[in-house]
Amino acid sequence: MKNKIQVNLGQRSYDIVIGKNSVEYLSEFLAKKNYSKIFIITDENVAKHHLARLEAFVPQSEKIVVKAGEKTKSFQFLETVCEEILAKRLDRKSLIIAFGGGVVGDLSGFISSILLRGVDFIQVPTTLLAAVDSSVGGKTAINSKSGKNLIGSFYQPQLVICDLDFLKTLPMRELKAGYAEVVKYGFIYDEKFFEFLEKNYQKFFSCDEEILEKIITRSCEIKAEIVGRDEKESGERALLNFGHTFGHIFETETNYSDEILHGEAVALGMVMAAKMSQNFGMIVEKDFLRIRSHLENAGFTIDPKKIRQNWDQKNLINHLFKDKKNEGQNLTFILLEKIGEAVIKKSVDLRNFEKVLAEFL
Ligand SMILES: NC(=O)c1ccc[n+]([C@@H]2O[C@H](COP(=O)([O-])OP(=O)(O)OC[C@H]3O[C@@H](n4cnc5c(N)ncnc54)[C@H](O)[C@@H]3O)[C@@H](O)[C@H]2O)c1
Repeated sequence: MKNKIQVNLGQRSYDIVIGKNSVEYLSEFLAKKNYSKIFIITDENVAKHHLARLEAFVPQSEKIVVKAGEKTKSFQFLETVCEEILAKRLDRKSLIIAFGGGVVGDLSGFISSILLRGVDFIQVPTTLLAAVDSSVGGKTAINSKSGKNLIGSFYQPQLVICDLDFLKTLPMRELKAGYAEVVKYGFIYDEKFFEFLEKNYQKFFSCDEEILEKIITRSCEIKAEIVGRDEKESGERALLNFGHTFGHIFETETNYSDEILHGEAVALGMVMAAKMSQNFGMIVEKDFLRIRSHLENAGFTIDPKKIRQNWDQKNLINHLFKDKKNEGQNLTFILLEKIGEAVIKKSVDLRNFEKVLAEFL
């Protein structure tokens, strides 16, 4: 079965096709287009497991295999991959396929937006995080010495294909990390979806295909709705950053290493943001505990001391001021009015942040 969701962005609208064997849809899509050349950008892990299967639907494509990991989202790889593609004679009618997780997706999307001032690209996500989050919405970026995702563009793909079979080889830790972004949609947008997750998360982690498909589909629907209303994050789209402000400070402090994966940091960050919401009298304690226990049950470490015993609080506060949402010294947080409804809270006093930090560290 295949589910199709449209991201409505006028002339830049596109479909997300989700389901078992949805990669077959690629042939149908390509038959309607007349691409002169197709480039597949992937990483070494994805290439090992799945490139042969994808290639069967994209004959005569050029393959570019990059190293796996966050360091690939760098100027160095941007240059290497761009030069390789140009040497292989990309033209304006070429297509780039991003085949991998968020790292490959963000790098390839950015490359697609700048090569020849923009060529078509398709996202074929292979991690849960990429399937429910990074492949949808058109944010592309590489990292800078000054911080993550600081050099990039808004550039929408022509199509997103999420084939469940590609997810089967994903390590459990990566699947779990992606689940943080799934449950985030329940917290910020859809309490019923959160209820569904509370009932079904175990089936999800045992990779029950029906549940996997339902959950990915609902997550993409929510992201598509929000992006469709606020493509460039001038308002509502910022709600998708729930948990990310807190999460980022731990990711930055651990230098984006395996000590804490992005999704794990987001899970911890969501619990802290929920605590701040409670401190502001927005959600009641029962809701905070419900959020915390679901994330704990799903296997997340929501006690930062279990990740590292001594966090440098000064450093954590310094990282906070680098958050893109903040304007000058005015702190902005995404908080919960209730489960299923998030708000942007501006001009938050640093003391509110310090209080939450003290409650967790
Ligand atoms: N553009 C956006 O809107 C957006 C949103 C969220 C996150 N991101 C970015 O996404 C990145 C993280 O993405 P990610 O979590 O997918 O990480 P990733 O791309 O690094 O993938 C995680 C690991 O899983 C491996 N892998 C990928 N697919 C696999 C598969 N099917 N089987 C086995 N191994 C597989 C990769 O090689 C890698 O080692 C970060 O750079 C983050 O900034 C972007």
